[in-house]
Amino acid sequence: MLYVKNLHKSYQVGATSYEVLKGVSLSVAQGEFVAVMGPSGSGKSTLLNCISCYIPFEEGKITLGQKELKGLSEDALAHIRNEKLGFVFQDFMLLDGLTVRQNILLPAIIRGNVGRKEETMADRLCNLFGIAQIAGKYPAEISGGERQRTAVARALINSPLLILADEPTGNLDSKSSRAVIDSFLEAKASLKATIFMVTHDSFSASFCDRVILLKDGVVYKNMERNSSQHAFHDALLEELKQMNTLEEEEENNENLN
Ligand SMILES: Nc1ncnc2c1ncn2[C@@H]1O[C@H](COP(=O)(O)OP(=O)(O)OP(=O)(O)O)[C@@H](O)[C@H]1O
Ligand SMILES: [Mg+2]
Repeated sequence: MLYVKNLHKSYQVGATSYEVLKGVSLSVAQGEFVAVMGPSGSGKSTLLNCISCYIPFEEGKITLGQKELKGLSEDALAHIRNEKLGFVFQDFMLLDGLTVRQNILLPAIIRGNVGRKEETMADRLCNLFGIAQIAGKYPAEISGGERQRTAVARALINSPLLILADEPTGNLDSKSSRAVIDSFLEAKASLKATIFMVTHDSFSASFCDRVILLKDGVVYKNMERNSSQHAFHDALLEELKQMNTLEEEEENNENLN
């Protein structure tokens, strides 16, 4: 479904070039729910933005569905963003002047086709995520968790190949976070959605099928969940602790040299 091979990405700051992604390779299968974790600054958002067709990269290959992204025109990339991808951001990005239902339908409105099919899908998503009773309300009138579930529904309205989420639970308390993760799980079960989520929250990540750990610009570890959510959470915490200890040791060594 999604293939990333040997991805390199640098940022130019003044005369200096900083390499953030140093050869990232990973793949996500159709219907998989995958989390990406790693220290702040490890390049998680950068990776997501490369996959989202938002920023160019120097080297490597990204294939989405059957399509390779490199070399596509700006128009073709915009088309992929609108038709093949669904986005969920940390700060929801709902439009204040539109109701919940209108916000959910927004990608279809932008695409220029809101017909019976889209209306039915919007109703289905509202029911699926328990927001049918607030569908006529405006973002200012609903809770953070409800806003984020609206954002997840909006990401699904065009039945995208892939949902990309950057810290979707970053601004939420644990109960609302759980509701958002439940809506991803529901989207996976009922709609066979494929989800790629960056998160700092190991509890949220422990509901995923797999967690990819990013460190120093490369994939440090791939952790498959083949136990209960609870056991996977413990395993994740242990692995993150080890990764942080390793990082501290490396920093200390650098300071000594
Ligand atoms: N547009 C930019 N120009 C220059 N440097 C950038 C730019 N965007 C990000 N960086 C740098 O690249 C590195 C990786 O950033 P990125 O946002 O991908 O990290 P992250 O893993 O998402 O971190 P966080 O967990 O804090 O969100 C950081 O050191 C950041 O300062
Ligand atoms: Mg980030």
